[in-house]
Amino acid sequence: MSALAMEQPITAGGIMLAREDALPSAPVVDLFRKSFPRHPVSRLDDAVAGAFLQTFAQTDALFVAHDPATNRDVGFLVGGATATLDRLRVAFIRAHAMRIAAASAKNNSLMRMLLPRLRPAKSFRAARYAETQLRFIAVAPEARGLGVGRQLVEKFEASLDHQPGYHTWTMMGSRGAARFYEALGFERDITFGEHVRLCKTLR
Ligand SMILES: CC(C)(COP(=O)(O)OP(=O)(O)OC[C@H]1O[C@@H](n2cnc3c(N)ncnc32)[C@H](O)[C@@H]1OP(=O)(O)O)[C@@H](O)C(=O)NCCC(=O)NCCS
Repeated sequence: MSALAMEQPITAGGIMLAREDALPSAPVVDLFRKSFPRHPVSRLDDAVAGAFLQTFAQTDALFVAHDPATNRDVGFLVGGATATLDRLRVAFIRAHAMRIAAASAKNNSLMRMLLPRLRPAKSFRAARYAETQLRFIAVAPEARGLGVGRQLVEKFEASLDHQPGYHTWTMMGSRGAARFYEALGFERDITFGEHVRLCKTLR
């Protein structure tokens, strides 16, 4: 039987901003790892991967979906001003450079040297810095198709009071995710390698 057994969407109060002073729950970290297996953070141990997600709570950029029926976190979203998200990511990499390097199987010494210096590519910076971005979203497999992803996106959008719009990236092969975004009013914008950018104008 599904651990969730949710017959109806979780109530709006179930989507919450993560607390800055508490690491995200184990299910949220696990969900990140399973949903983004190619992301370098997925190779780190739970405490550091949790610290990565917690970083975004500093600027109210981490939303968590909590199912009160099972008292379990079933989804999360990271989104906000692109410049802020990039700054937090770089700060995290600097703070954990040695552990990130240790988790890299190859080029350990090279990684140790390079990681603290990582910045978003210059070609992206100018175009992206004024923008807002939905960077990660995932819902636990047993809770999918029940409106949790939509509720996370709606809560995030409600937090963007002065933003005309925002964008997100997904993989070209990830047809389910692209259809999810399109169902929420996103339109395909540009393609970059295997990635597709989708944009949404808020009214
Ligand atoms: C993509 C994901 C977040 C969707 O979450 P969800 O809670 O299942 O989505 P919802 O139930 O809120 O669905 C919202 C809308 O999207 C549509 N949708 C969701 N997944 C879909 C899919 N795989 N194919 C087609 N449509 C889909 C729903 O039909 C719904 O449309 P409607 O409201 O008009 O009926 C979830 O499937 C997931 O975590 N996937 C793995 C991680 C991932 O791919 N993240 C995105 C990386 S860029």
